[in-house]
Amino acid sequence: MVKVTSILVAVLLSYTVVQAKLPASAPGIVVNDNVSSDAAGYQVSGNAQHTNTGLHLSLKSNTGKKDLYGKTIEDLSVDVSFETSERLHVRIADKAGKQYLVPDSPLGVERPKISHSAGDLNYDFQYTEKPFAFKVIRKSDNETIFDTTGQPLVFEDQYLELTTKVPNDANLYGFGELTGAYRRNNNANVTTFWARDVADPFYENQYGSHPAYTEIRNGKAHGSLLLNAHGMDIFTVTGRITYKVIGGILDFYFFVPEPAKPNAVVAAYTDLVGKSIMPSLWMLGWNQCRWGYQNISMVENVVEEYKSHNLPLETMWTDIDYMDSYKDFTFDPVRFPVSKVKDFTTKLHANNQRYVVIVDPAISTNSSYEPYSRGHEMDVFMKLNDYKTEYNGQVWPGYTAFPDWFNPKTQDYWSYEISNFMKSVDLDGIWIDMNEPSSFCLGSCGSNKGNQVPPDSSDAEHAKEQAALNALGTGVPGDSRNLLYPQYTINNGAGNLSEKTAPTTATHYGKIPHYDVHNLYGHGESYTTNTAIQSYRPGERAFVLTRSQFVGTGKYAGHWTGDNSATWDYLKVSISAVLQMQQFGIALSGSDICGFLGNTTMELCARWQSLGSFYPLARNHNSEGNIPQEPYVWPEVAESTRNALSIRYTIMPYMYSLFQEANTIGTGVWRPLIFEYPEDNRFLAEDVQFMLGDSILISPVVYQGADSIDAKFPAGIWYDWKDGTAISGPTTQTLHANLTEIPIHIRGGSIIPLKSPKLTVSDTYNTPYGLLVALDKNGTANGRLYIDDGHSIKQDSTSSINFNFSQDTLAAKGQFDYQETTKLEKISVLGGSFTTAVVKGKKYQLQKDDKTGASVAQGFQIDLTSSFTVQFN
Ligand code: NOJ
Repeated sequence: MVKVTSILVAVLLSYTVVQAKLPASAPGIVVNDNVSSDAAGYQVSGNAQHTNTGLHLSLKSNTGKKDLYGKTIEDLSVDVSFETSERLHVRIADKAGKQYLVPDSPLGVERPKISHSAGDLNYDFQYTEKPFAFKVIRKSDNETIFDTTGQPLVFEDQYLELTTKVPNDANLYGFGELTGAYRRNNNANVTTFWARDVADPFYENQYGSHPAYTEIRNGKAHGSLLLNAHGMDIFTVTGRITYKVIGGILDFYFFVPEPAKPNAVVAAYTDLVGKSIMPSLWMLGWNQCRWGYQNISMVENVVEEYKSHNLPLETMWTDIDYMDSYKDFTFDPVRFPVSKVKDFTTKLHANNQRYVVIVDPAISTNSSYEPYSRGHEMDVFMKLNDYKTEYNGQVWPGYTAFPDWFNPKTQDYWSYEISNFMKSVDLDGIWIDMNEPSSFCLGSCGSNKGNQVPPDSSDAEHAKEQAALNALGTGVPGDSRNLLYPQYTINNGAGNLSEKTAPTTATHYGKIPHYDVHNLYGHGESYTTNTAIQSYRPGERAFVLTRSQFVGTGKYAGHWTGDNSATWDYLKVSISAVLQMQQFGIALSGSDICGFLGNTTMELCARWQSLGSFYPLARNHNSEGNIPQEPYVWPEVAESTRNALSIRYTIMPYMYSLFQEANTIGTGVWRPLIFEYPEDNRFLAEDVQFMLGDSILISPVVYQGADSIDAKFPAGIWYDWKDGTAISGPTTQTLHANLTEIPIHIRGGSIIPLKSPKLTVSDTYNTPYGLLVALDKNGTANGRLYIDDGHSIKQDSTSSINFNFSQDTLAAKGQFDYQETTKLEKISVLGGSFTTAVVKGKKYQLQKDDKTGASVAQGFQIDLTSSFTVQFN
C-alpha cells in the first residue's frame, strides 16, 4: 500500500515537470507517463529450462486487466543469454513469433550468434515467477542495475510497457537523438522515437532513434539497449525509466563491463551494434556548405575566397540548388552545367580538395525522368497497402516515389544511379537528407507523372489527403492491427504517425508495413548508399553523411545534427548533440556551424567556428535566404577560424588515431568529462566543457557577450595550449578567451602526435611529425599514433605506435608496418626541465619556446618505421 502511494506521488510530481518542460506548441504531445499498474502482468508457467546460452522461461498472462492499447498476447517466451562476460541479452517475445523484429544487418542490427553461455559473468540475472519480473545485478558491488520488480509488464500486439527502477536522481546519458541537456534525468522528460523531419526542437522526437543509455552511479557505469525500431516513448522520471512501445518485442541488452567505466560501456555497446566508420583522412578537413549557392560560379568563388583569406578548406558542398528542378542525379543545365561542374571538381582534386553533394531518397515521378522509370521498371519503390500501387509522396521535386531499401533489388538500382551520378562529375561523397523519410503531404498524395508540383498542403488539402488515406484502410491485408491510429499515441511532435512522412500503412518488400520499419529507413539508405559509393570507388572508404539514423548506423555513415538555428542556445546544445552521437557509435558527427536557420551574427559565428573546428565532422552550413556566413565574411570570424583550425590540423594525427579507436574499440572522439572522470561529481551534468579523446580538454565560450568561462579542471596537471601555463586540478578557474580564441588544455601525462598545419589535410600530412609530451607530476606521459594510407578500406600494413615517457626517456614501441616516409622532426616537452635530447648518440639542444611555453628540440630525422628511444637530460 505504502509503495503504491509513493509511486502515485512520484507520477504526479513528474507529470507536472514533464508538462512544464515540453513546448506547448507541439501538436502531437500528449504526455502520459503513468505506469499501467492495474495491468494483468505475467507469470512463469512450467519449469525454467537451462539452455546452451542461458535460460528459457515461458510466461502466461495473469488474470486481470488486459487489452490496454491493443491485443494482449497471452503466451510469451523469455530467453536469457549470457552472451559475454559483460553483455547480457534478455529477450521477451511473443511465443508465436509474429511480432516484428528488427532485422539483422545490414538493414537492421546484427545479433551475434551465440552458441554457448560465456563464463566469468560480471552480472547476475534474477527473476521472480509471479508476477514475472527480473533484475540485473552487477556482481562486483552487488548493485542492482535494472529492476522491473513491482512494475507492470504489458505485452500487446501494439503496446509494450516495461519499467525499471533507477535511483531518484539517476545520472542517465543517451536516449537520443534529442536536442537537450546531455544528462537526461534533470529534465524529467519523455524521449519519443519516431524519425521526423523537423528543425531540432528541444525535447521532441527528431531524425534518429537510439533507445540506449549509459547510467553512472557512484562513479560506476553500466548501459542498456532496447533493440526495437517501433515508435516508442521512453519516460525518464523520478525513480524509474518506463518504456512504452507500439510494436515488436522487448529485446534488451545490458552492458556491464569491469572495471565499470563509462567508456567501457560505449565499447561494449559498439561491440554489439557495430563500430563507427573509419573516415578517410580528408574527411577530417574543413567543410563549407550552404543551401543557396545558386550556381557553380558562386561555389567556385567561395573556394577562391577561402584561399585568398588563407583559410583551410578541404571539401566544398552543394545543396539541392545544383539539381535540375530538384531531381536527384541531375545538374541544372544553366546554373550547374555538368561540364563546368566537372572542371570544378578536376580543379579541386588537383588541389587535394573534394566535392560532396546532397541526394534525397525521394525520386521525382516525372515520367520522362530516367531514374524514376528505371526504378519503376525494377519495381523498387515503396507500395501502398495493396502491395502493388506505388506510394507517392511529395518532396522538393513534386510528386515522388521512395526507394524501398528492404527490396534486395534496390541495391542494384541505387548503385547504378549513385555511381553514374558520381562518375559524371567525379564526386567524393554523398550527403543523404530527408530520409526519415520526409514527405510534405499526407498519404499517397498524388501520382501525377507529369511535371506538376503538387500544391502545398493547406488545411483543406490536408483534410482531403486524410480522407483519402483513411479510405485505403487503417491496416494492411492479413494483419489486424490499426497501423494508422494505434491506440497508444506516442508523443510524436508531428501529430499522427503518418504526418510529414510515409503513411504507416505504406508497405515494403516482404509485405512489411512502414509502421514496423519507419525508424530504419535512414539506416537502410545509409548502408545502401555506402555500398553504392563503393561500387564507384571500389576499395575506398565511402563518405556518407546521413540525417536519419538508427542503432548501428555509425558503421556506414556520419551524421550532422540537422536543422539547428543561428542562436546561442543551439551553439551550446550542439555539444550534447555531438556527445550523444559518440556514445551511439556515430563518431563522425557535427552540427551546422554558425547555425542553419536564421541569420547568424559575427560574435556567434566567431564562437561557433572556434568550437566547430573541433567537431569530429566540421562543416559550416547555412539555410536559404540567410546572410552569408562563410568565415571570411567577418575578419574576426576569419581570425577565430584560422586560430582554431590551425590547432585542429596540428593535432590531426591525434584525431585520426582517435577515429581509428572509435572504429576498433568504439570509444568516442569526443567524450563527456563524466565519462573520463566518473568519480568527479562536478562533471555529472557538464555539457559545455568536453574532452577530445582522453588528452585534450576543450572549454568553449558559448554565451553571448561573454569573454571567459569558469572552467572546471579534473585532478592532475593541465597545460594551456596557448602558452603552456600549468593548472593543477581539481580546481575551477576563470579562463579568459577573446572572440578569436578557444581555451584548450592538454592533460599532463599525455603525448600527442602532431603535424604542421596547412590549408589542406594532404599538405598537412606531408609535413614532418612532431610530438607534444605533456608530463604529469611524476614526469611520465603516454600517447598513441595510428598510421595507415588514409583512404583504403583494406590496409596491407598499418602502424600503431605507443609512446611512453618515463625516467627521462621517451620510448616508441608497437607495430611499425606502415612504410611512413615523413619523419619525426620535433619534440616539445611541457613540464620537466631538460636541456638536451639524445637520439642514437646524437645530442640536440632543447630551447624554451616563449610562445608555447614548451622546451623544444628539433632537427631529428627519426624514422617512424621502427621502435626508438630519446634520452632527455
Ligand atoms: C534539410 C536539411 O536538414 C538541410 O541541411 C538542407 O539544407 C535542406 N534540407 C535543403 O536540402
